[in-house]
Amino acid sequence: MNHATASPLTQPPAVYDDTAVRQFTVMSVVWGVVGMAVGVFIAAQLAWPELNMGVPWLSYGRLRPLHTNAVIFAFGGSALFATSYYVVQRTSHVTLFAPRLAAFTFWGWTAVIVAAAISLPLGYTSGKEYAELEWPIDILITLVWVSYAVVFFGTIATRRIRHIFVANWFFGAFIIAVALLHLVNSAAVPAGFMKSYSAYAGVQDAMIQWWYGHNAVGFFLTAGFLGMMYYFIPKQAERPVYSYRLSIVHFWALIFTYMWAGPHHLHYTALPDWAQSIGMLFSLILLAPSWGGMINGVMTLQGAWHKLRDDPILKFLIVALSFYGMSTFEGPMMSIKTVNALSHYTDWTVGHVHSGALGWVGLISMGSLYYLIPRMFGRKQMFSVRAIELHFWVATIGIVLYIAAMWIAGVMQGLMWRAINPDGTLAYSFVESVKATFPFYVVRTIGGLLYLAGMLIMAWNTWMTARGPQPARQSEAPAALAGA
Ligand code: HEM
Ligand code: HEM
Repeated sequence: MNHATASPLTQPPAVYDDTAVRQFTVMSVVWGVVGMAVGVFIAAQLAWPELNMGVPWLSYGRLRPLHTNAVIFAFGGSALFATSYYVVQRTSHVTLFAPRLAAFTFWGWTAVIVAAAISLPLGYTSGKEYAELEWPIDILITLVWVSYAVVFFGTIATRRIRHIFVANWFFGAFIIAVALLHLVNSAAVPAGFMKSYSAYAGVQDAMIQWWYGHNAVGFFLTAGFLGMMYYFIPKQAERPVYSYRLSIVHFWALIFTYMWAGPHHLHYTALPDWAQSIGMLFSLILLAPSWGGMINGVMTLQGAWHKLRDDPILKFLIVALSFYGMSTFEGPMMSIKTVNALSHYTDWTVGHVHSGALGWVGLISMGSLYYLIPRMFGRKQMFSVRAIELHFWVATIGIVLYIAAMWIAGVMQGLMWRAINPDGTLAYSFVESVKATFPFYVVRTIGGLLYLAGMLIMAWNTWMTARGPQPARQSEAPAALAGA
C-alpha cells in the first residue's frame, strides 16, 4: 500500500494559476467534437465513397490525417496540457512556473491545430503518419514543446515538497520523449514553403518513422494518460494509489520497454529480420508493465468499489483502464509475426487502435475533464450528473459497436486474402473482400455516431456548467479539492 502519496494529494493553502488549465480544458472538449465529427465523416465515406462529393479537400486521403491529428494532438493533447498543468501545481504545492510561457503554450498549440486544420485539407503533407505537418508548423511545435517543458519542469524545480508524485514522472517522461521523437523524426530538407523531403532514406526512413509511431502510442497516447490515471483515480475514489512501489516499477519498465517495440509495425518488410524479432520480443514483454499499471489503477478502488455504482466519473476512469488492459493484451498478440501476417493491412488494426483510442485515451480524458470542468468554473459539480451517466453509456455502446465490427471485418479480410483454391489461385478478388466489409463499415459508422453523440452531450454539459449562476473564480482554492 502507498504511504508516500498522502501528502502530495492533500493540498496546503496556496493559490494556483489555472488560466491555461481552463483554456486547454474547454478546447479539449471543442476539439473532441471536431475530431470525432471528422472521424464519423470518414467512416461514412468508407461505406459510401460518394460522400467526398468530388471536392478535393473533402477527399478521404486528406481528411483521414485531419482526423488523426485532431483527435490525438488537439483533443488528447489539450487534455494532457490541462491535466499536467493542474496536477503539477497541486502535487508540488506551488503555483505554475512562468505563467506567460504557459499562455504561449496555449496560443501556440492552438495555432498549430488551426494550421493543421487548414494545411491538411489543402493537401500539404510530409506523408509520415502522425507527423504529417510540414516543416514551418514543425518548428512552431518545437517552440511550444520546449516552452511546455520549461513550465512543467520549472514548476517541479520550484516545488515546496521534496517528493515528486508519480503522476509527474509520467507527465515528465511524456514531455521529454515527445520532444525527442519529434526532433528526430521530423528532420527534413525543406524544398520550398510547405514542402520538404525526409532526412532519411529507404528502410532507415521507415524504421525512424515507426520508432516515432510506436512511441507516439507509448508516450503521447499512454504515458501522459497514465499520469492522469495516477492523479484522478485516487482523487475521485478518495483512496491512495494501491501500490506506490508498483507505480515506480511500472514507470521504469514501461518507458524502457516501449522504445524497442517499433519494428512490430514493419513485419515482413525490407527491415532486417533480427530487428523485426526484437520488436516482437519487446512488444511481448510490454504486456507485463502495461498490466501492472492497469492493476495498480483498478486496485486503487479497493474498499471503494461501491462508488462505481453511482459515480459516473469513476465509471469513465475505471472502464478506461479495462480498455487499456484489453488493447495492451491485444497489441502484444498482434506483434507475433504469425498473427501479424493475418492482422496487418486489415481492419483488425483499426479495431485495435480504437479500443485503445476510444476506450482508453477517450474515456480517461473525459473522466479527468469532468473532474476539472466544475472546478475550473468555480462550481461544485457538473450542471447535470445524469448527462455524465448518459454520456458514459452512449460512448461505451459506441465503442463496443466500433471495435466488434472492426475485429470481425479484419479477421474476415485476412482470411479472404489468404484463401487459395486447390490449383493455387486466390479464392477471392480484393473487391470481393471490400464488398463483404460493407455492413461492418455501416456498423462502425453507427458506433462512431454514438461516441460523437456522447461528446456533444459533454459539450452541452460543459456549456451549462460554465454559464451557471455562480460567479467564476480566477484561481481555485485548494480546499475545494481535498477529498472533493
Ligand atoms: C467518433 C469517433 C471516431 C470515429 C468514428 C473514428 C473513425 C476513424 C476512421 C474511419 C479511421 C480510418 C480507418 C482506416 O483508414 O481504415 C480512423 C483512424 C484513426 N483514428 Fe479514429 N475515429 C474516432 C475517434 C478516434 C479517437 C478519439 C482517436 C484517438 C484518441 C482516434 C485515433 C485514430 C487513429 C490513430 C487512426 C489511424 C489508425 C491506423 O492507421 O490504423 N480516433 N478513425
Ligand atoms: C502493450 C501495448 C501495445 C502493443 C505491443 C501494441 C502493438 C501493436 C501492433 C503489433 C500493431 C499493428 C502493427 C501493424 O500490423 O501495422 C499496433 C498498431 C497500433 N496500435 Fe498498438 N499496441 C499496444 C497498445 C496500444 C495502445 C494502448 C494504443 C492506443 C492508445 C495503440 C495504438 C495503436 C495504433 C495507433 C496503431 C496503428 C498504427 C498505424 O498503423 O498507423 N496501441 N499496435
